Amino acid sequence: MLEHLTVVRHPLVQHKLTLMRDRETSTNSFRTLLREISQLLAYEITREMEMTTRQIETPLCAMQAPVIDGKKLALISILRAGNGLLDGVLELIPAARVGFVGLYRDPETLQPVQYYYKVPSELENRLVIALDPMLATGNSSAAAVDLLKKSGARNIRFMCLLAAPEGVARMKAAHPDVPIVTAALDECLNDHGYIVPGLGDAGDRMFGTK
Ligand code: URA
Repeated sequence: MLEHLTVVRHPLVQHKLTLMRDRETSTNSFRTLLREISQLLAYEITREMEMTTRQIETPLCAMQAPVIDGKKLALISILRAGNGLLDGVLELIPAARVGFVGLYRDPETLQPVQYYYKVPSELENRLVIALDPMLATGNSSAAAVDLLKKSGARNIRFMCLLAAPEGVARMKAAHPDVPIVTAALDECLNDHGYIVPGLGDAGDRMFGTK
């Protein structure tokens, strides 16, 4: 079983993350680094997938060889920054099904409001990996996981690049059954809900917007 929180402390992940945090890193490099880290996080988050065996013939003999069991997994990008993780993971797991969840924060109620939702069929029979680089307050992440559970998902994991303690606590309270895999657990949120030390606005940095 994956722990509720896994911080991937591998030197390659940590080195690339430092480059991403640096304000001088270009948009292009930021995107490339995010793609690379997403694949290293995917390696970790797909540990313990169910396996079966298949009979194959090597050039020398027949063997029962291991293959992943079950229906194709589902990758769910939480818009828009989730798309920065999606590309790399999809490269590693090209047969995955893909869904999108769009949420914005109502300025009055501060609650997440859904503006887009399209997910693969039969989520109940798939490993579902929700993707969002920044687990900050955890409000939109928890709301996105609520929606996935309403669609039937039962085996969900959450991948992010950075997590704030506040977001981890929010997710643990709302979804203790959803393991989180991240590259770092940062110190706190600032008054604007940004992760500190963080890397700024992940969407702006990957898409070159402001
Ligand atoms: N979203 C971001 O893009 N950055 C943060 O620091 C927090 C939320």
